[in-house]
Amino acid sequence: METTIVKMIALALLTQAIAIACFSIDDRISQLPGQPQVSFQHFSGYVSVDDKKERSLFYYFVEAEFDPASKPLVLWLNGGPGCSSLGVGAFSENGPFRPSGNNVLVRNEYSWNREANMLYLESPIGVGFSYSANSSSYEGVNDKITAWDNLVFLKNWFLKFPQYKDRSLYITGESYAGHYIPQLAELLLQFNKKEKLFNLKGIAAILEFATDFNSRAEFFWSHGLISDTTYGVFTSACNYSRYVSEYYRSSLSPICSRVMSLVTTETSKFVDKYDVTLDVCISSVMSQSKVLNPQQVSETIDVCVEDETVNYLNRKDVQKALHARLIGVNRWLVCSNILDYELLDVEIPTINVVGRIIKEGIPVLVYSGDQDSVIPLTGSRKLVHRLAQELKLTTTTSYRVWFAGMQVGGWTQVYGNILSFATIRGASHEAPFSQPERSLVLFKAFLEGRPLPEEF
Ligand SMILES: *[C@@H]1O[C@H](CO)[C@@H](O)[C@H](O)[C@H]1NC(C)=O
Ligand SMILES: *[C@@H]1O[C@H](CO)[C@@H](O)[C@H](O)[C@H]1NC(C)=O
Repeated sequence: METTIVKMIALALLTQAIAIACFSIDDRISQLPGQPQVSFQHFSGYVSVDDKKERSLFYYFVEAEFDPASKPLVLWLNGGPGCSSLGVGAFSENGPFRPSGNNVLVRNEYSWNREANMLYLESPIGVGFSYSANSSSYEGVNDKITAWDNLVFLKNWFLKFPQYKDRSLYITGESYAGHYIPQLAELLLQFNKKEKLFNLKGIAAILEFATDFNSRAEFFWSHGLISDTTYGVFTSACNYSRYVSEYYRSSLSPICSRVMSLVTTETSKFVDKYDVTLDVCISSVMSQSKVLNPQQVSETIDVCVEDETVNYLNRKDVQKALHARLIGVNRWLVCSNILDYELLDVEIPTINVVGRIIKEGIPVLVYSGDQDSVIPLTGSRKLVHRLAQELKLTTTTSYRVWFAGMQVGGWTQVYGNILSFATIRGASHEAPFSQPERSLVLFKAFLEGRPLPEEF
């Protein structure tokens, strides 16, 4: 009798242990089609973000290549709103693999999992493989809902990966994620006041509507993309923030319409606005353009026949290996066409939120690819400078170059040893795509809280 009870308890304990272990093992990727052998583990799957289990967010998690237990946890978010962190971030920018040629994956030598455990999240609901069983959830999604869902995601993700719960956490991303990141960070800090759960150590990226958008005219002009005359009207008659604001309210004035058509003609659709020096034929994966680049004249850069990431992620065997499901859609898309995002949220200035985060002692890095005309470095630099003044942070590192691989990687300035600005030389909007080595140097320095290399 006694032995039976002991056995039963042992069995119960065993099944529990298996159940716990299975949780993340279930999400473990044994091998992606065409994937080279690697020494690190990767996982992907769903985390439910509501009690009814209707809405689930999809993640891809790559453990650090060496000694993951000693490395921080980094959440990466792409923008749009509505574009995928899996397709853009992981498979085109800073993840360990990139689809190439005939359905093989090649290693990315400068993958950010060299320095951190990388968590890519397809957010908000309706993006990529993330879904809701009730399609009415896709309506009226906004910054607030996104931040809240992302918090619930992290909370529930820690149930699958409890070993990461107390790990230093960084939130990084690009483009419209300049909205997601500060708002999520602020929510995590508020949550921590009740229950210390998130060990937030830093954030990277930013956006403020008017300053960012209106720096575009000067960037176009100084790079020779528009004439002196057009620059004149694009700064006086109708500037870009006014155009976007009218456009989203469906009240485009004749003057703005005329100015934009002039700008569009001169800049030409055969120049990639995300990297004005790069030749076109950049994959559709690269355009996170919905809000940041609204156009009357549709400006699709459609000279690319091949779209390797899109093809790869739409393969049934790949989806199976990723534990991904297509719910309510036929295809995995780079940017969602079912998500109905509150586009006017673009006007919410997140720079103030960044200020509050810095006041809580969280380091912030704002970085810009210097070939990007969509969110030009000049706008971001101005915003950071202004924020530093408001917070009364003095310059701790004067504007100077930094180095990567014996070349100038870009320029940097640091305020109060907590707020950093950096450019990445020769980089596009998707900096880790066009300048992988420089981006990795920047990322590493940020994680380690060290100044960017001053010499080589
Ligand atoms: C979907 O959600 C909406 C709004 O919450 C609700 O009114 C509707 O009944 C739901 N539909 C189903 C099928 O559950
Ligand atoms: C842009 O235009 C708006 C509306 O005309 C104006 O209020 C704003 O000051 C302008 N901004 C810049 C930087 O020119």
